[in-house]
Amino acid sequence: MSNTVKKAGNSLIQSRSENLCQIDFDHIWHPFTQSSQWFADHPLIVERAEGFYLYDPEGRGYLDGVSSLWCNVHGHSHPAFTKAGKEQVENLVHSTMLGLSHSPIIECTERLVSLLPAHLSRIFYSDSGTSAVEAAIRISLEWWQKQGGEKGKQKTKLLSLAGAYHGDTLGAVGIGFLDFFHKALNKSVVQSHRVRTPHIFRFEQGCSESEAMEQSVSELKEFLLQEGDSIAAFFVEPLVQGAAGIWVYPPEYLKEIESLCRKHDIHLIIDEVATGFGKTGQIFAHQIAGIEADLLVMGKGLSGGLLAISAVACREEIFKGFHGKPSEGKTFFYGQTFAGNPLAARFAEVNLSLFQDSALMEGARERIAKYTALLDRRLKPLDWVDEVRQLGFMTGIELTSKPGSRSAWKSDQQVGAKIVKAARDRGVFIRPLGNVIVLMPAIAMPEEDLEKLVQVTADAIDEVCGSESS
Ligand SMILES: Cc1ncc(COP(=O)(O)O)c(C=O)c1O
Repeated sequence: MSNTVKKAGNSLIQSRSENLCQIDFDHIWHPFTQSSQWFADHPLIVERAEGFYLYDPEGRGYLDGVSSLWCNVHGHSHPAFTKAGKEQVENLVHSTMLGLSHSPIIECTERLVSLLPAHLSRIFYSDSGTSAVEAAIRISLEWWQKQGGEKGKQKTKLLSLAGAYHGDTLGAVGIGFLDFFHKALNKSVVQSHRVRTPHIFRFEQGCSESEAMEQSVSELKEFLLQEGDSIAAFFVEPLVQGAAGIWVYPPEYLKEIESLCRKHDIHLIIDEVATGFGKTGQIFAHQIAGIEADLLVMGKGLSGGLLAISAVACREEIFKGFHGKPSEGKTFFYGQTFAGNPLAARFAEVNLSLFQDSALMEGARERIAKYTALLDRRLKPLDWVDEVRQLGFMTGIELTSKPGSRSAWKSDQQVGAKIVKAARDRGVFIRPLGNVIVLMPAIAMPEEDLEKLVQVTADAIDEVCGSESS
């Protein structure tokens, strides 16, 4: 295993980046990162960020094309957050939510409930998207058991969409099990039932949009006729399955899901961890379909993408299922040390206050229209682009190794990683998901930076795919 930093030039003096890099190589284990690849190149080390740029220790700027893992909303070092954060640090940085409350979380909640649909009036806080998803799993399964009766007792299983991603703890892996990532856990994880979304029929089986819709709805109906009574909750990423490769499905499918959940008495749990806070052109993606969630999961952008805080919003009726005398055994025994942390809650409160001004989403929608035109003009016509899937700022660029046909690049060619490197050399940070290049700009990114993001991505795709194919 070679993990020695490659020096820039012949200099005997190590730069600050090289020093940091050596310590990183010697001691840090990065998530979702193959160390042999990590050690092969000098990594980008971020020392500070401002606006929509990340800066390395030498002061080089890189446009943040994936909003720091789909989180950042208003840009980095935004003055409203810096001011509120400084004040909060001086007052209270951490205190617990277990048997205690604090003012930032209460003020954050007041804003959150005013932004959410009225029926989602009760908020449970956590510290990451995954731990909020786990909370939602537990709330639903426990709620049905605490309801008791024949019906409640039967509801012990979960349903989710094929290709779903809901996080990385074992409960979340159970509803988002993927062989590629989780094969080694096959015998250890309780897997949910799965149904296939319209895009699977469209992309993999070549069905038309309407055939794909018909097939997926009939698969779902058939499944629920057999198994509906045993299903406690149906977990969905609304309209866009992000980590699967930005797969977009039509609002009509989500509407069908809602009506079938009502028919079979199943909690509809909408996971807006990735889609929430403006990325799709609405504050929440499920609003586009005009449906109601029973439980709504939020993370990432809740704090403007600055600190770890997440939440599950639910109907009061669900909360009441856990209310009773201590001896009744209804208490929800679930939580994390840093759940609802005060500093993170203060950032969330600032973020929510910015969303209360309708100008924010109006501006975002205008930029989405311009961004869409850029994708149409600069990316879609490229030979190496099979299709561009997009909802708002959430963008997946499916590559092809043979122009004009559906033909993924071989994984050992590492085309995605090479495109990311070529973009980085041009001052833009993006990430691949297998054969897909993902763009996810912050919703406040100005037009000139959106243009740079799209143009650099197009140039990097052209350069790498062109040389790999020759
Ligand atoms: C839809 C969805 N749910 C849950 C998660 C997990 O969130 P976190 O990484 O904050 O645990 C993610 C992360 O990308 C996600 O996309």
